Amino acid sequence: MQKAKKRIAVFLVAACLGTVALAHGGVKNAAVMARMEAMKSIGDAMKVMGSMAKGKTEFDAATARAAAADVARFAAQTSALFKAPEDDPKTEALPAIWERFEDFTTKAQETEALARRLALSLATKADLGTGLTQLGASCKACHKEYRK
Ligand code: HEC
Repeated sequence: MQKAKKRIAVFLVAACLGTVALAHGGVKNAAVMARMEAMKSIGDAMKVMGSMAKGKTEFDAATARAAAADVARFAAQTSALFKAPEDDPKTEALPAIWERFEDFTTKAQETEALARRLALSLATKADLGTGLTQLGASCKACHKEYRK
């Protein structure tokens, strides 16, 4: 992978992981907890691919494909998990989600489609870099409008 591209991929992954450090400890609404957990799992799968792209872990196509499949699986649940306008003092979800739920769903489907394609096609480390850059941008496209 080209250096600049790799840096972009790593940056985008870091940008969409954001404030993962925030504990879920205080979340009282089970529906909010469930959607946060799904997002956390998406983040964990992205981390698996991110550390490979960075060279922190050794590149393994099968592991990367499985992580991409995990992203697709959780992205596929996103629309249903967010459908009800559930609230909690700890949530980072913005009310705009339920004002433009169709657009929100489309964005989740874009992430899912990209991840699914990557899960089927990823063979080389270069594929991983390209795929991560695209996926990272898709996370960001949603977070920028719908997450605090
Ligand atoms: C369709 C919109 C959408 C897409 C696409 C999306 N997210 Fe999110 N994400 C959200 C929203 C909304 C929240 C805030 C949920 C809440 O706090 O109730 C969130 C929260 C998170 C969190 C914090 C979870 C926590 O611990 O509370 C992480 C990590 C995260 N997303 C990672 C990702 C990654 C990585 C991707 C891309 C592979 C992604 N998200 C794609 C909407 C999206």
